[in-house]
Amino acid sequence: MLSATRALPRARVALRSASTWSAVPAGPPDPILGVTEAFKADKDPRKINLGVGAYRDENGKPYVLPSVKKAEELITAAKGDKEYLPITGLSDYTKLAAKLAYGPDSKPLHENRIAITQSISGTGALRIGGAFLARHYPHSKVIYLPKPSWGNHTPIFRDSGLEVRGYRYFDKETVGLDFAGLKEDLLAAPEKAIVLLHACAHNPTGIDPTAEQWKEISDIVKEKQLFPFFDMAYQGFASGSTTKDAFAVRHFVEQGHQIALSQSFAKNMGLYGERVGAFSLTTESPEEKARVDSQLKIVIRPMYSNPPIHGARIAGTILGSSELYPQWEAEVKGMADRIISMRDSLYNSLTHNLKTPGEWGHIKSQIGMFSFTGLTPPQTKALAEKAHVYMTADGRISMAGLNSGNIDYFAESVNKAVRGDL
Ligand SMILES: Cc1ncc(COP(=O)(O)O)c(C=O)c1O
Repeated sequence: MLSATRALPRARVALRSASTWSAVPAGPPDPILGVTEAFKADKDPRKINLGVGAYRDENGKPYVLPSVKKAEELITAAKGDKEYLPITGLSDYTKLAAKLAYGPDSKPLHENRIAITQSISGTGALRIGGAFLARHYPHSKVIYLPKPSWGNHTPIFRDSGLEVRGYRYFDKETVGLDFAGLKEDLLAAPEKAIVLLHACAHNPTGIDPTAEQWKEISDIVKEKQLFPFFDMAYQGFASGSTTKDAFAVRHFVEQGHQIALSQSFAKNMGLYGERVGAFSLTTESPEEKARVDSQLKIVIRPMYSNPPIHGARIAGTILGSSELYPQWEAEVKGMADRIISMRDSLYNSLTHNLKTPGEWGHIKSQIGMFSFTGLTPPQTKALAEKAHVYMTADGRISMAGLNSGNIDYFAESVNKAVRGDL
């Protein structure tokens, strides 16, 4: 008897020693954030991080826009409180975000037919949109993404309850748009499926359809009755003009499509960590908009109750100010122009100065923050290990990480990697 009672506590101890989480498998590291970690651990002074999609100034430093600094001064001076926002956020901000995306002359905007909510930046907007469509879009649970697309799109939409499929987008041979493949795949998609479109500055390829190609895509979307979901994370960043970059969104709306739209102010206002975005849907009438609004609230409330206030105040202050708005537009153009000038310099170095084997015209023709260089995984690995130059394994670089201080070293390193001399 005695030994049995003694045995019991020992058995309990043994049971307790197996952790509750012992069967949880280690997940793979995030492919983009993993690049930053490797970069941070590298002690070489020449190191360059072209992995992360955040703008850097001419000195390679994070950039707080002067218009953002001024807006923050105004916000501090106004001594506002820190109360909760409504579920769909700060309406002074969302109204202006809609105007920026859809345009001041937009019909659905003037007719009060746009249901819009503030979101936790672009990621949150996509997630709200995915969840709303999974629950309320009556025709399909399938979303088509371009191949390739931003790495987070697939998990966002899969976790939202949608089935993710792909349409051709990138042509490896030409390092350009596979427009024939894109059209074929959209025409072969089931009717009324959802199709995700990067509104501008496609990530990761940096390749956008032309205005004429967008018109053709709009016609196919109409013919197949597909539902277009635009991801606009870079308005203003592609061309330097917020109007020009909104062409696809505005064209689709003018053509009578009902659309879903995700917006982010991470890049174009440099508000990365403030998490300022918006999700919107165009509807048929103010009455329908009110019903959609009510369901957006029901999607959001159990996710995070209501969004943060500070970043929305900054964006709302800039968009609503006759002084700060033009200043911000000029600052966006400044960022876009600096990136474009880096494209020109890199192209000239590779093609003319170093005579690097291969065709590098895509460096100049691609648009926005990213460039798909065409470098292979072994070349990108060698660049990281031997030259301290970090990028994603698919050869995507953030052009914003280049500046006059590091571009020559970068071009020389690429030249060596391509020649197999690293
Ligand atoms: C295509 C695309 N969509 C959405 C996002 C979302 O970014 P954020 O959540 O920081 O606004 C990004 C960020 O890199 C992106 O590249």
